[in-house]
Amino acid sequence: MNFNELVQKSEMLAEDIYSLRIRSERIAQEALPGQFVNVRCSNGLDAYLRRPISICRVDPSNNTYDIVFMKKGKGTNYLCCFTEGDFIDVMGPLGNGFTLPEKNEKVAVVGGGIGIFPLLFLLEMCNASKKTAFLGFQTAESIVLKKDFEKACTELIISTDDGSLGFKGFITEPFIKWLKSEKPDRVYTCGPLPMMNIVAESCLSQGIFCQVSMEQRMGCGIGACLVCACKVKLNDDYDYAHVCKDGPVFPAQRLIFD
Ligand SMILES: Cc1cc2nc3c(=O)[nH]c(=O)nc-3n(C[C@H](O)[C@H](O)[C@H](O)COP(=O)(O)OP(=O)(O)OC[C@H]3O[C@@H](n4cnc5c(N)ncnc54)[C@H](O)[C@@H]3O)c2cc1C
Ligand code: FES
Repeated sequence: MNFNELVQKSEMLAEDIYSLRIRSERIAQEALPGQFVNVRCSNGLDAYLRRPISICRVDPSNNTYDIVFMKKGKGTNYLCCFTEGDFIDVMGPLGNGFTLPEKNEKVAVVGGGIGIFPLLFLLEMCNASKKTAFLGFQTAESIVLKKDFEKACTELIISTDDGSLGFKGFITEPFIKWLKSEKPDRVYTCGPLPMMNIVAESCLSQGIFCQVSMEQRMGCGIGACLVCACKVKLNDDYDYAHVCKDGPVFPAQRLIFD
């Protein structure tokens, strides 16, 4: 399931945020929003384990897909060195994606930081009647893909921690305010755990369908190593699920956020 694929384009979108456009008929034709690829970032023993990165968008007519990632540590330091014409070893598409809405439904996505990338794929793929996107960033300089989100949704609300663009504060604040007057059919969220916890609780308390895309460190990416465990409800007790195989997308009511 792993293939060496051609990097067609590489781009720096903002400080420490990079995008790679990769040619792959299989992923461009088969991938669903919320799925990810597990990427070998280097050939040596350094950063030996693959790193999971969400599929940010696909272009089936050109057989390409994009990943967007933040340079964080060893693996992504190697990843941002890939340029046009290089070959990259990628496993995927992996995991369970989002449940797409029906045509006449109203949806909202709530994303923060690197969690916004799978939400763009979702917005671009779904033909809901109204799509509202709430995206949180640290500063105006760290905002990426704004035009793409504007194009993919009906309404875009942005927050920055320092107030340099949009609402000043966390994105959960305008979302909760909006939720008081709007009743979306489905809400999807991806980003920092505290943000997703608030979004999930707000939706569940009003009986609104909510799916959460979990982030967890990974090893194998295919359910074989148990590195990616996350706590889930099991009747009155709890159990562990694999983010790579059972997720990364989970129904909000199944998760235990501790
Ligand atoms: C399903 C899934 C989809 C993802 N999609 C994207 C994406 O689209 N774009 C993107 O930039 N990143 C994404 N990530 C996160 C990405 O996999 C990690 O940032 C990456 O593995 C870091 O690797 P590194 O070698 O650069 O950093 P490391 O040297 O391994 O770690 C650097 C720092 O990041 C922390 N870290 C590493 N991995 C994770 C993780 N999974 N969750 C939280 N903290 C972590 C470490 O604790 C450490 O503090 C995704 C993760 C998952 C599980
Ligand atoms: S990463 Fe190995 S089981 Fe999920």
